[in-house]
Amino acid sequence: MADKESIKETHNYYLNTPMKNEPFMLRGSNSLEWGIKNRLSNIFNTDSGRTVMLAIDHGYFLGPTAGLERIDVTIVPLLPYADTLMCTRGILRSTIPPTFTKGIVLRASGGPSILKELSNEEIAVDIEDAIRLNVAALAVQVYIGGEYETKSIHNMTRLVDMGNRYGIPVLGVTAVGKDMARDAKYMRLATRICAELGASYVKTYYVDEGFETVTASCPVPIVIAGGKKLPELDALKMAYNAIQQGAAGVDMGRNIFQSEAPIAMLQAVRKIVHENMTPEEAYEVYQSLKTSKSKHQNPK
Ligand code: 5RP
Repeated sequence: MADKESIKETHNYYLNTPMKNEPFMLRGSNSLEWGIKNRLSNIFNTDSGRTVMLAIDHGYFLGPTAGLERIDVTIVPLLPYADTLMCTRGILRSTIPPTFTKGIVLRASGGPSILKELSNEEIAVDIEDAIRLNVAALAVQVYIGGEYETKSIHNMTRLVDMGNRYGIPVLGVTAVGKDMARDAKYMRLATRICAELGASYVKTYYVDEGFETVTASCPVPIVIAGGKKLPELDALKMAYNAIQQGAAGVDMGRNIFQSEAPIAMLQAVRKIVHENMTPEEAYEVYQSLKTSKSKHQNPK
């Protein structure tokens, strides 16, 4: 029971100090529910407003992708250097230590393998299981122009409705089919549709020409996928250009875990995303970390 004897009588109501009413750090996110903002704050760094997501969900349609054959060996050591991990619930439960407390972006769509029509996805997780796993966001593939375009959009809008019910943001992932153009016009179309239909943030590919028009016309944050493995300096240049042209971060997979020195590469990418370092400066960081410690080498 509280002590009734020495209750402090003087009160300070700070009458001359107006209560702060600061806007949320992410574009287009001010009116979101508290729980969604709280989860987004476990994905995006609250100082820089940006994120370095490590994407390792490729197995959900590709099987054991190069670099992801043994996630316990090659990926778990990278976790301290990522802001967020994007993965499937199977890998999360089987391989990721529950002591990892940064945001998990859960792959929430799936169905077809690489052997079939990829756009024919379904929602692949129950919202209750996502809550049980304490995830920070749900990721869903959206195939604008794909054979099952409407179905994939419907997957996203249903996840947005379920996520809104429980305060879980949805990442709309714009998937580029093999016959689709990878240009700014397409990316503007795909990212804008995801945002209009309720995605809290959108993942897309970087395009060399006009990427700033993609970020300008999307009212929510955009993160870029890394795409196929590039030489490290080229991947750093791509990350730099995307950030300077308005991206709020990267969701990189192969350019990290297929690098000769994944931890060094992840740290170099962080320098670009959170500290606005140039690609050349970040590449120096990569090289010095790579040569300084043999443990930065990708385990064989
Ligand atoms: C699969 C995905 C991947 O997470 C995405 O492709 C990121 O990985 P990478 O940088 O290797 O492209 O969304 O559909």
